[in-house]
Amino acid sequence: MANEKRGADPEKLRQYSKALFGHLSGAMTSALVYLGDHLGLYRALAECGASSSVELATHTGLHERWLREWLHQQGAAGILDTAGDDRFALSPEAEIALVDESHPAFGAGFFSHLPQTMQVVERLPECFASGLGLPYDAFGPEGARGFERGFAPWFRSLLVPVALPAVDGLVARLEAGARVVDVGCGGGVALVEMAQAFPSSEFHGYDISSHALERAESNRRDAGVDNLQFHDVRETPLPDDGSVAFATTFDCLHDMTHPDRIIGDIRRMLREDGCWLVCDIKAYPTYAENVENNPMAALMYGMSVATCMSSALSEPSGLGLGTLGLHEAKLREMVHTAGFTRFDPLDLGHPVNAFYVARP
Ligand SMILES: C[S@@+](CC[C@H](N)C(=O)[O-])C[C@H]1O[C@@H](n2cnc3c(N)ncnc32)[C@H](O)[C@@H]1O
Repeated sequence: MANEKRGADPEKLRQYSKALFGHLSGAMTSALVYLGDHLGLYRALAECGASSSVELATHTGLHERWLREWLHQQGAAGILDTAGDDRFALSPEAEIALVDESHPAFGAGFFSHLPQTMQVVERLPECFASGLGLPYDAFGPEGARGFERGFAPWFRSLLVPVALPAVDGLVARLEAGARVVDVGCGGGVALVEMAQAFPSSEFHGYDISSHALERAESNRRDAGVDNLQFHDVRETPLPDDGSVAFATTFDCLHDMTHPDRIIGDIRRMLREDGCWLVCDIKAYPTYAENVENNPMAALMYGMSVATCMSSALSEPSGLGLGTLGLHEAKLREMVHTAGFTRFDPLDLGHPVNAFYVARP
């Protein structure tokens, strides 16, 4: 009766409910992927091969009953392969995505700030009411570690050997010695990689997240590099003396309250013969195009509300671009307004990010 009143079709309602609960299933699977990564269970499976819960318990020292339920969930979700005799295994592809932190397709890092993200979701009703979002520091030190772990595999595997050589004349310049600035540097992994590769150059990272800056300093110390410094941009503004040969921004312009101002600052810090490597999320001008071209659009709009747009609205009058809000045409316009004369896309074949090189 209630269905008829609303004009609902019972079969479509069944299908719709199935899809809806599929999303809840994704959320639970994500939580259990977080646990598998956090507890070292994927690593244990990579070491032992196909395992039963008893074998996994022996290997990890964790309780068998809990491991059995975790294995059953991961098998049911298709994260692990079932290998007969209630044994479960990583496929070679799963091993890359869940265990191999040196591979650019390592994905488990993106699950590692899930608990902090869900805690922040509890604060979002307040943001919907006030209009003001939360900066990255709202995710705490563990959140900063998680964000860093998501992007680190690409920096470690492809930044120095593939991305930098694709920028005309850059490697020779960095080998000779140049000043480099990374704005929105997060945990500083990109800078540590570059500073190690180019000891004659001088590297500076700027961010507004104190947790990210602490991670960055600790990563610098662990790597033993001394041609690298980190700065809180609220205390130490970006240089404005045209001394920087190479600037970078990785996945952060769309998170900023005023990317237009930062782009102006980057133009002022650059030498006339300098260049800026921009990496930001591949996006399109309209919602319809984003949904049509991006199979992860729902994930990205979700991350935007929880993280990127929230950060970009964390000050009054923030532009609030969000995860899919900085498409090429908009960025091109901002870059030209700031006084850059050249802005060229750089095809690095990345599934999610777009790259550009801007020059004065
Ligand atoms: C998604 S994280 C990317 C971090 C790093 N570039 C990476 O790829 O791992 C975005 C970063 O931008 C920083 N951020 C946001 N607004 C900023 C601003 N106005 N100036 C400098 N950094 C900012 C955040 O604190 C956060 O660390």
